[in-house]
Amino acid sequence: MRIDIVTLFPEMFTSFLDGSLLGAARRAGLIDVRLTNIRDFAEGVHRQVDDRPFGGGPGMLLMPGPVVSCVEAVQAEAAPIGRTFLLTPGGRQLDQAAVEELAALDRIVLVCGRYEGFDARIGATLAAEELSIGDYVLSGGEVAAMVVVDAVARLLPGVLGHEESAGQDSFSGADRLVEGPQYTRPREFRGLAVPEILLSGDHGRIASWRREQAVAATAKRSRPHPVHSPSHS
Ligand SMILES: C[S@@+](CC[C@H](N)C(=O)[O-])C[C@H]1O[C@@H](n2cnc3c(N)ncnc32)[C@H](O)[C@@H]1O
Repeated sequence: MRIDIVTLFPEMFTSFLDGSLLGAARRAGLIDVRLTNIRDFAEGVHRQVDDRPFGGGPGMLLMPGPVVSCVEAVQAEAAPIGRTFLLTPGGRQLDQAAVEELAALDRIVLVCGRYEGFDARIGATLAAEELSIGDYVLSGGEVAAMVVVDAVARLLPGVLGHEESAGQDSFSGADRLVEGPQYTRPREFRGLAVPEILLSGDHGRIASWRREQAVAATAKRSRPHPVHSPSHS
């Protein structure tokens, strides 16, 4: 799979792309991630990429010229051009189903916004989709693009070892349960013992117990809870 990232800050991706799982996947040729700087497609001595919004308002917007030229150049580098996504807070919210959908594609282009975001004609000209990583606002699309790349990469064949198959993870499988509690050594830590059943060696009962725990954890999570719950204050 090829992922192109279009950004004003390619240097933000250096250690992320070289990091353990992703770095190994790239070196093994399982994923091809490329960075292109929007600034290289800006014109004039100042290489301007942003300007004030028509109608007034705070901040600056990314101008259509440099972003569209940059994305079109990236799309033209290889066939198929792939699906193009603008990272925006108001876009389709990323969840595991969306990650699975993206991981099945041969190529995607991720466009990172900055400042107050994109001139509306950028999405219209590129027929781009919009993708959000959650209902909050970041300073730029780079961290959002890293979230997408990380989540997609671990679903690609060969990226995770057999023992750490993504199929066991939260939100995977038909019922999309979250994972229940897991334990490792020691058997007792500060008075908290590992549940006996996990030490029983009875794989059938362990599987049933884990499923019950996952169902309970999923139900608990779906109940509304305040971020500052009294128990944590
Ligand atoms: C400060 S934000 C712009 C926010 C925009 N004015 C708004 O109110 O929707 C700058 C850039 O960060 C990125 N960004 C911020 N929050 C994001 C989110 N939740 N998901 C994806 N990208 C996000 C987008 O690329 C956006 O263009």
